[in-house]
Amino acid sequence: MKKDKSIVVANWKMNPQSFKEAKILFSGIKSVASKLVNIQTVICPPSVYLNEISKMYSGHRIAFGGQDCFWEEKGSFTGEVSSGMLKSSGANYVILGHSERRALGETDEQISKKVRSALDNKLKVVLCIGEKERDEDGNYLDFLKNEIEASLSLVSKNGLSNLIIAYEPIWAVGNKSYETATPNDIHEITIFIKKVLSDIYGRKDAVSVKVVYGGSANYENVYEIMVGGNVDGILVGRESLNAESFNKIISVVNNINFE
Ligand code: PGA
Repeated sequence: MKKDKSIVVANWKMNPQSFKEAKILFSGIKSVASKLVNIQTVICPPSVYLNEISKMYSGHRIAFGGQDCFWEEKGSFTGEVSSGMLKSSGANYVILGHSERRALGETDEQISKKVRSALDNKLKVVLCIGEKERDEDGNYLDFLKNEIEASLSLVSKNGLSNLIIAYEPIWAVGNKSYETATPNDIHEITIFIKKVLSDIYGRKDAVSVKVVYGGSANYENVYEIMVGGNVDGILVGRESLNAESFNKIISVVNNINFE
């Protein structure tokens, strides 16, 4: 049996389209997630739904998170939401550096400030990294290393206990044919991520950082990803928008811990 709970993060992105649908989706997930003792389920709805959705559950088996936050605490930043605001709306987690935000122009420097702000406000950070493509020369490894180093440039050792790294190869995110990285490749990257963290922070602190995988995870591939990839959890996009599919995923992950 694994020592720590695995973590399954639902990234709802800009879905569903109405609050009514969001409540129905969450109720469907809650009926199963609230019973699973071996995993931590984290639901990240659009921030406008966060407060009300988080009030629909009061235990610890389900936690809530934002999908982004700004680095300043308050002020004239039209349209932005601070990490403190997320926290006071029921979030204990925040996804940062998602490839869809990076594609809109978010830089490593901005991400590093967001990570710092979120950790200062006692949010757990799910920091997304991932290569656009894999080249035979292994340049993507340098790319991943740079992303980690740059995103964590303002984070000291103390912040590591609230850090989760999500390896999300961009080509696998939203992939139409649900192509994922292979379990072997995922395993290699988890080791690589820990090595990069060890080089920055020292081995003792680096090994405690959880690494999760994201990109076309579904209930059929999640067992192989978790066990073969040796990851601490999964970040789920599309398949978290259907309660039945998502509940199958969390049930599979919950059972792995019993083996
Ligand atoms: P997907 O998205 O599961 O739909 O591929 C994953 C993500 O973007 O986090």
